[in-house]
Amino acid sequence: MDHDRYLTFALAKGRLADQTLKLLEQIGVTCEEMKDKTSRKLIFVNEERKFRFFLAKGSDVPTYVEYGAADIGVAGKDTILEENKNVYEVLDLGFGKCRMCVCGPSRAEELLKHHERIRVASKYPNIARDYFYNKKYQTVDIIKLNGSVELGPLVELSDVIVDIVETGSTLRENGLSVLEEICPLSARMIVNPVSMRMETARIKQLITEIRKLKES
Ligand code: PRP
Repeated sequence: MDHDRYLTFALAKGRLADQTLKLLEQIGVTCEEMKDKTSRKLIFVNEERKFRFFLAKGSDVPTYVEYGAADIGVAGKDTILEENKNVYEVLDLGFGKCRMCVCGPSRAEELLKHHERIRVASKYPNIARDYFYNKKYQTVDIIKLNGSVELGPLVELSDVIVDIVETGSTLRENGLSVLEEICPLSARMIVNPVSMRMETARIKQLITEIRKLKES
């Protein structure tokens, strides 16, 4: 079918984008120029389906989709929760599985149990705030960090951290463990609400194709 406009995808660069492209290839959507790792090009197209792809920093993907700069986005559930943008989450892609957890040294267990006013370091201050204030009804001080969050309890910046746990090896190697689980995470497809109305057929078809592949 001929389409007048490109359907634009914002992909979280790195592993999630690689896995998304693999998935799209399995349903016959290829984008050869995107595989060239040496290229500095930012936007790639698939003329056959009139799809356009760009790679963005994961935490910016929901922003591109909310503003309609991208019709569709693929990002981790962690980013989607943290950014809390006005987008539709339409599909769990099933890869990039991990967990959002409260982690720390064993001495922090008592502090959590007794709802003490503790310090929580995280790259995800909104998720941490929502968990402690709205789910646990515990007043805490949140400290925003941008990476290597496990350092928090090690250098006594914080009592615990709220962070992603995948294999658990970063925690183990630093004498920390999971104290509470907040939620499971994986890569999700998100859609701009206006695009969903304007391009319903194309977007639904794509979702159906991916669902069928996952079920097969
Ligand atoms: C993430 C996360 C943990 C680690 C968890 O960090 O923040 O540090 O991966 O993975 P694991 O359970 O398999 O050890 P990332 O590598 O994204 O880097 P960062 O520390 O800069 O956030």
